[in-house]
Amino acid sequence: MDVLVSLCKRRGFVFQSSEIYGGTGSCWDYGPLGVELKNNIKRLWWRDFVQRRPDVVGIDASILMHPNVWRASGHVENFTDPMVDCRECKHRFRADHVDAMPWVHYCAATKGNKFTVKPGEPCGHCGERRSLCPQCGKGTLTAPRQFNLMFKTFMGPVEEDAAVTYLRPETAQAMFVNFDNVLQSMRLKLPFGIAQQGRSFRNEITPGNFIFRTREFEQMELEYFVNPRDTVDGRPADEHWHDRWIEDCLAWYKRYGLRAENLQLREHEKDELAHYAKRTVDIEYRFPIGWSELMGIANRTDYDLKQHAKVSGKSLTYFDEERKDHVVPFVVEPAAGVDRSLLAFLSDAYQEEEVRGEKRVVLRLHPELAPVKVAILPLLKKRDEIVRACHAIRDELARSWSVAYDDTAAIGRLYRRQDEVGTPYCVTVDVQTVGDAGEQGDDRVTIRDRDSMEQVRVPRAELVPVFRELLEGGAWKDVAARFTPAAAKDSA
Ligand code: GAP
Repeated sequence: MDVLVSLCKRRGFVFQSSEIYGGTGSCWDYGPLGVELKNNIKRLWWRDFVQRRPDVVGIDASILMHPNVWRASGHVENFTDPMVDCRECKHRFRADHVDAMPWVHYCAATKGNKFTVKPGEPCGHCGERRSLCPQCGKGTLTAPRQFNLMFKTFMGPVEEDAAVTYLRPETAQAMFVNFDNVLQSMRLKLPFGIAQQGRSFRNEITPGNFIFRTREFEQMELEYFVNPRDTVDGRPADEHWHDRWIEDCLAWYKRYGLRAENLQLREHEKDELAHYAKRTVDIEYRFPIGWSELMGIANRTDYDLKQHAKVSGKSLTYFDEERKDHVVPFVVEPAAGVDRSLLAFLSDAYQEEEVRGEKRVVLRLHPELAPVKVAILPLLKKRDEIVRACHAIRDELARSWSVAYDDTAAIGRLYRRQDEVGTPYCVTVDVQTVGDAGEQGDDRVTIRDRDSMEQVRVPRAELVPVFRELLEGGAWKDVAARFTPAAAKDSA
């Protein structure tokens, strides 16, 4: 994880929030490359799960909602974590996380020497197990108390109880409270989905592990409403669609580069199911911190619509034409975190390799995720014609893709920098391109493939169609074969 955190800061992906004031442990800022990567993740998710599906529509709701939303949803009562406090150092922990932490131990068998012992293991010298604060190793811990994770704030100028509202802890509730608005305005038929992307806030007791668990984060959630009276292939429709969404979400992460061996499904045990869920399956990813939740796919039944109907007094039903009756739909909810997805894509893409005796760091990001698609690099920055040609190419490609121009180092260094931020292709302009000593240039440029590091010379006029082909899924080897001169092919 430290390697990723360092790369992210050094290369402008993620910075600590308010760093010049010492930072906040639980909030992060996305830098110039980070925001591109994050936007690409959101754009692909929206394109694949909303725009390309005939049965899903989107909304963008406000973060501040009526406080009754959170009473109806159960968040005021149930959205709590058990926490314990150290009586000595005052550190606060999630009670269910304490045993999974390394713990500080002053070992009596070694005259009180201080050790850090691995999570869940006894001390190797005295055999003692953790009983005190894992952070300071001295204080006893209080009994667990429930702590509500919602951030409270006040709506309007008066700070009184009647004005209390909350920053939303999930985007999901807006889809339930807008169910009827969307149904009526879009004249939808079950099954259909409502999707939303946006910020959520949770006052996590133990945020940490970089952007894995933060207090402000982004979610991509989809509520897929189904008729519980329907069956598909002999199974209840909600159960069928739950399995379909698990498959589709898993396939989505694989399509954009997460390796199958780093993904697994985890079924929630009955005693850990959220208060609204009939069944929940997490997609877990092998993060640098170990296997952890990347996203969850829950069958929330009709809990939310019924609760909001009860508390608001408004009907939230669907008229089943076939049965001539109103029904409360069940909902299947694929809920993903943008930040966690970004961390997974980064860590899966990160590779170190040796090239001609030197270390090469490369982010093998899927081209559609890469923050910069093409970097345009001059071989000689002192030659005006070369620099002018680079800027003209930059301007032309920038109409379609996010591109970068860099002339601040020698070409080898420039390639390495682009490899490190995952740029799939570089274009280099050299003397041969623009001509020299009165000789006409060939108007060809070198394009380089990040993954194979192969290079081919391509007529400048072909750049746009070539990149369109490559960035829309075309194979490098096909492009390379087309532009490799016959003589070179023969000698190869
Ligand atoms: N509406 C259901 C819901 O919010 P969740 O499992 O609590 O379910 C969904 O959250 C996803 O949101 C998680 O799988 C995770 O990717 C992301 N997420 C949740 N809490 C987070 C946090 N504190 N920091 C970063 N991402 C978080």
